[in-house]
Amino acid sequence: MIYLDNAATANPKAPGVGEAMAQSLGTYNGNPGHGGHRLAVRTTLAVYAARAALAHLLGVADPSRLCFTSGATAALNQAIAGSLPGPGHVICSTWEHNAVLRPLWDWQRRTGGRVTVLPAAGEAPLSPDDVLAAIRPDTILIVLTAASNVTGAICPVVEVGEIARTRGIRFLVDGAQTAGHIPLHLDTLPIDLWACPGHKGLLGPQGVGLLYVRRGTELQPLLLGGAGFDSERQEPPEETPERFEAGTLNTPGILGLGAAAEHLLTTGIEATRAREVELQAAIQEGLRRIRGVRLYTASDPGAGVGVVSFTIDGWNAAAAAESLDRDFDICARAGLHCAPLAHRALGTLPDGTVRFSAGPATTDAEIAAAVEAVSHLAAHPDTAGLRQATSRA
Ligand code: ALA
Repeated sequence: MIYLDNAATANPKAPGVGEAMAQSLGTYNGNPGHGGHRLAVRTTLAVYAARAALAHLLGVADPSRLCFTSGATAALNQAIAGSLPGPGHVICSTWEHNAVLRPLWDWQRRTGGRVTVLPAAGEAPLSPDDVLAAIRPDTILIVLTAASNVTGAICPVVEVGEIARTRGIRFLVDGAQTAGHIPLHLDTLPIDLWACPGHKGLLGPQGVGLLYVRRGTELQPLLLGGAGFDSERQEPPEETPERFEAGTLNTPGILGLGAAAEHLLTTGIEATRAREVELQAAIQEGLRRIRGVRLYTASDPGAGVGVVSFTIDGWNAAAAAESLDRDFDICARAGLHCAPLAHRALGTLPDGTVRFSAGPATTDAEIAAAVEAVSHLAAHPDTAGLRQATSRA
């Protein structure tokens, strides 16, 4: 099988992840942070070690600023809802995932707040000047994805963060497609909040993610009970990470993610990044040569993160992905990728695109085979599928 859906979830996971999870279920079955007996303490220490490894990997001096969540979606929902107690004005981009857009639409409906979505034309990421022009006196939050999960284009996080910092506006970054892909030093970036999943570029298991909360960032927790200490207090704890980790943690997931972080610390994210740019260049070069294939991606491979979206003349995107899976043993994701505004900007509504996303284990031979498969599809239009797609529209 050729797996080209690493933007949805990495496959395979980093070496050692499965073993760490199995060891967790055998050796670390105490409840971390909820008990003083030896097994609880041993588990608490193991969770701490995983947090420390992730902090080291992500350039965070104080590991307690990294809170474990169930994934990027939970981290983004927490960051958005916890930052917006009342109305105001929020800026985000066309490239946002629904994990950002839906909480913002909900907040807009409930409070009468306003969301400005920065426009985009074609594949280009947004311009910091547009952010500057969109700021209003009541702007309280800017949310930006670090890279589009549709085109892979990297957005100007540092420039936008500097604008936000100068204006005293909170800045939240969705790091879903960049964590583990691009070397990061979160403490030195001009950001207040940063969210990412554990199961994509970090090569960890599903069901665990991270929310980085810069010291001094006031954030209302979404989950209020069960921190495991100060039980007589009526309010949740003030300190991170406990303020945002109510309930029993996903110890197997966290220890699996910790093992993935140790792996990435050994191999180095710089090396992963260099390989990713090579793969991105190879996919683009191969697909561009095929008549009838249109690419939606950062044209400079160095300006993207290993994600290439495309359409094939004569093929509905979902039907093409189905054929790639059934006839060529290739796993790719098709459709709107939970990013409807991105597809509107690209002109690929309603069917979306086929998306190839390589990972560190992807080989040159797999890319060549995938390009060959697309070439075959382009030469054999799916007339039956097109009829179906037209009748649905
Ligand atoms: N957000 C994930 C993707 O882009 C699931 O596929």
